[in-house]
Amino acid sequence: MTPYALTRLIHVTTAVLAMGLVTAGLLVARIRGVPPAVWRSLARAALIGLVVMLATGLVMDYFTAGALHGARWFRIGIGWALATAASLIYADRVIARTARGVLDPEAARKRLVIASAIAVTCVALAVVVMVRRP
Ligand code: HEM
Repeated sequence: MTPYALTRLIHVTTAVLAMGLVTAGLLVARIRGVPPAVWRSLARAALIGLVVMLATGLVMDYFTAGALHGARWFRIGIGWALATAASLIYADRVIARTARGVLDPEAARKRLVIASAIAVTCVALAVVVMVRRP
């Protein structure tokens, strides 16, 4: 297996395993009474997965001597990955504000549902871009 193929394998495996956590976060956020720590650990693991996706994507660009980073699909993919991360970080801050008593827990849960739904949509769009390569 070439280093490129190995990096691609890590990229796609992380897409399946870590990005599934984003969907799990949406399902958990929809249930009333689940401790915020549960959502938080899912979101943090998903964020680590996003870093791996970004790093492996850039390594694939390196292995192709920079042939990828000029492509539109590659840049759009980075955009959707960053948008996913931004939604998860926003939701994490909502939880922190709830813990400090600034936000009502039920209002915070609704925000979590919206932020998680946006994150799921961004991941789906990233996959579309990776596969279709517009
Ligand atoms: C939410 C984030 C992402 C997801 C879910 C995702 C998912 C995928 C999937 C499923 C493929 C395989 C496509 C196929 O074989 O038809 C792929 C390929 C690829 N991705 Fe991503 N990706 C993400 C983010 C990124 C980022 C941020 C970069 C760049 C920094 C990137 C770079 C690449 C490259 C270069 C390939 C092509 C590998 C090849 O076919 O040789 N991806 N991605």
